[in-house]
Amino acid sequence: MVEAEPRSIAIVGGGVAGLQALHSLLQLPRVEKIVLFEKSDTIGGVWRENYFGYGAQVKRDQYSFPELGPAGLDLYPTGAQLKAHCHAYCETFGLWPYIRLSTDVQHLTRRAGPSGFRVAWKRASDAESEEEDFDFVVMAVGNFSKPFIPELNHSHFMGRILHSSELVDPEMLQNHHVVVVGYGKSALDCFILASKFASSATLVARRPAWILPQRFLGIPLEYLASTRWFAHVVFPPYYNASRLRRWIGVFLWPLQALLWWILVPILWFHFRLPRAMWPSHSLAWQLWHGHSVSICDPAPLKEALRRGARMLRGQLLGLTGTGCIIGTESAASSGGEAPVLLTADVVVFATGYQESWSKLFDEETLKALDPHGEGPELYKLILPDLPGLAFLGRILTTCDIVTSFVQAQWLQALLAHQIPRPAPAVRQPTQKSYREWRRSFAPVVGHTMVAVPRVFDYLDELMDDLQVWPSGRDRFLGLFQPLTAQTLLAAMARARATASPVQGRRVVPVA
Ligand SMILES: Cc1cc2nc3c(=O)[nH]c(=O)nc-3n(C[C@H](O)[C@H](O)[C@H](O)COP(=O)(O)OP(=O)(O)OC[C@H]3O[C@@H](n4cnc5c(N)ncnc54)[C@H](O)[C@@H]3O)c2cc1C
Ligand SMILES: NC(=O)c1ccc[n+]([C@@H]2O[C@H](COP(=O)([O-])OP(=O)(O)OC[C@H]3O[C@@H](n4cnc5c(N)ncnc54)[C@H](OP(=O)(O)O)[C@@H]3O)[C@@H](O)[C@H]2O)c1
Repeated sequence: MVEAEPRSIAIVGGGVAGLQALHSLLQLPRVEKIVLFEKSDTIGGVWRENYFGYGAQVKRDQYSFPELGPAGLDLYPTGAQLKAHCHAYCETFGLWPYIRLSTDVQHLTRRAGPSGFRVAWKRASDAESEEEDFDFVVMAVGNFSKPFIPELNHSHFMGRILHSSELVDPEMLQNHHVVVVGYGKSALDCFILASKFASSATLVARRPAWILPQRFLGIPLEYLASTRWFAHVVFPPYYNASRLRRWIGVFLWPLQALLWWILVPILWFHFRLPRAMWPSHSLAWQLWHGHSVSICDPAPLKEALRRGARMLRGQLLGLTGTGCIIGTESAASSGGEAPVLLTADVVVFATGYQESWSKLFDEETLKALDPHGEGPELYKLILPDLPGLAFLGRILTTCDIVTSFVQAQWLQALLAHQIPRPAPAVRQPTQKSYREWRRSFAPVVGHTMVAVPRVFDYLDELMDDLQVWPSGRDRFLGLFQPLTAQTLLAAMARARATASPVQGRRVVPVA
């Protein structure tokens, strides 16, 4: 059965994914009501606030709203600039009237008859929650809005415990002994910050990971990590690759192995970190498994080590009144040697974030959404098996703002019936082969995600549906061009010039 075009749409989350969904779904001709719910007091999502000095790790051409362009952003945009960029996006496209701030969506219940959901939401200023029906709900709650701190008994600890996202002022570190836990981008940045302001700074990582420099042998990283040719040469094929492409993949394997073997020591040479921080897994494994890979300027890291900051490989076992107990491999292997004790009065947990989408659904709906316990099962990483619902932004690439832009365009075309809603006979085998492909390298990840190097294959899937990709010479040149917001937008503009646009009309704001 073809789903009717929704008349009312709720969007949950006001980060870059939710805002782009709002802008594109406002163009739908039959929609009468759209509300974007954002639980905090302003829009921007992760760009609202984070640790001091946070920002994008890729350049502005890769991290800016395609429809707004990178004007006003530094080459590597700061967090504050991206926050302002989100506000400018709302101003430019008149989105404010559709946004309800300080409004937490607490529950989504499937409606009995028609598709869609009853949304239970609560304003921060109100005691009671309210309910409202919508034909369609877009979940854009992000992957990094709920900080995670591991459970440890820290009742004796007399110092201060912070999640990395709370380290908003370096004053918090001044004259303190600081331990930073973790080895993601947040941990490395907080470590550098601590090395500048604290009396002592130690980074403790249970699993050191590969870090990429902004320039590799002088070549800007995006010409490697964000180009098609590189993805084709160094990674196995995507789940939907043709038989020929798979065979080519088999023959390329020795070349890939050789390339990785050459790349790794060169990569290590850029940073020259202590030997103990050499990762025990391969760079290919890390990239291919969709783990986040930090992109860093080596100079501040080297400078931090020169200033006397330390990096330690080990697991935080617990906290005493005045410090941290660290289990290190050397302590474990020397048979009973005491774990290391580190003096600390500030511990920064740069231990990442946890998912926040599942608590919004009842058990039965959750089972339908996540039948394998591996995160929501989504066709093209957008559509679950349930009608009246879509997820945007459940991807980890280095240019998420661009990928969620394309997702929003795809969703708009789907809801406008410009691309057909896939029948179960199409959807199920596609999802199965995606799942099997993902399991072949990442058995249980708990995320619906695309490994960074596979971003092109993913975008191709969506853009092919939208009939957008260039052909011939442009397609060939596109092999070597980094993915940028503007190249995507230009491709879409070219395609739209020859296709019939969605005939939009403004929806009366009801927020
Ligand atoms: C410090 C930091 C730096 C990053 N740098 C990069 C980078 O350089 N490149 C890159 O590609 N990615 C980067 N990322 C990843 C980043 O998460 C994405 O790029 C992108 O901003 C995610 O946008 P989003 O809209 O999907 O989610 P978010 O920005 O997380 O927005 C989700 C919003 O939903 C709201 N929300 C959640 N639950 C509810 C609810 N129940 N009711 C109402 N509102 C709700 C939240 O308050 C939040 O505002 C970075 C992440 C962090 C933390
Ligand atoms: N653009 C930027 O500048 C920027 C800045 C910050 C963040 N980000 C992005 O935001 C996302 C989140 O980054 P993040 O650095 O905050 O988190 P993250 O990438 O999830 O890293 C979390 C780190 O904490 C460790 N950890 C988790 N649980 C632990 C535990 N119980 N004990 C000890 N260590 C534990 C992890 O180790 P294991 O690997 O062993 O699990 C990992 O090293 C990423 O996608 C990142 O790229 C980008």
